[in-house]
Amino acid sequence: MEMEKVEILRSRIKEVKTQQVEKGDMILSSLHLAQELFENSIPLEAAEAIAEELDVKIERIYELATFYSMYSTKPRGKHLIRLCESLPCHVVEGPQIEKKLKDILKIDFGQTTRDGLFTLEQTSCLGICGVGPVMMIDGDTYGNLTVESIEGIIEKYRGDRK
Ligand code: FES
Repeated sequence: MEMEKVEILRSRIKEVKTQQVEKGDMILSSLHLAQELFENSIPLEAAEAIAEELDVKIERIYELATFYSMYSTKPRGKHLIRLCESLPCHVVEGPQIEKKLKDILKIDFGQTTRDGLFTLEQTSCLGICGVGPVMMIDGDTYGNLTVESIEGIIEKYRGDRK
């Protein structure tokens, strides 16, 4: 299964190479693809495949993968929850939302639930401060969060009912 994913990643990187000229952009796009395939993280075999396909040292791949907070080389949960912690979101019920999320998931920032379903992280401004507080789950954005609405949103992602 993992080998199959590596092969898919390799073929997608080949497509990326036909569309982009900047090596840095190609690496970032490839890291993004790897995270999509490997449940929100970049395992060693994916980093190796990117390095080989793009003909760069693996150290460069890890340098970029660890520089940007959206990438992770550590295993994450199937769903990545990122709560905006920048000031405009923080001042409108941010701390209450944070507490509710941590209570529901029984984890702190940077941790993954025991069932491997959710990882909770902080993020800086997502650019939609007008509807704060805001969080992202995978590629979905949720604004105007309230303590009451959080549980229903999380529930949609449990048991793959999303
Ligand atoms: Fe949260 Fe801008 S401060 S989206």
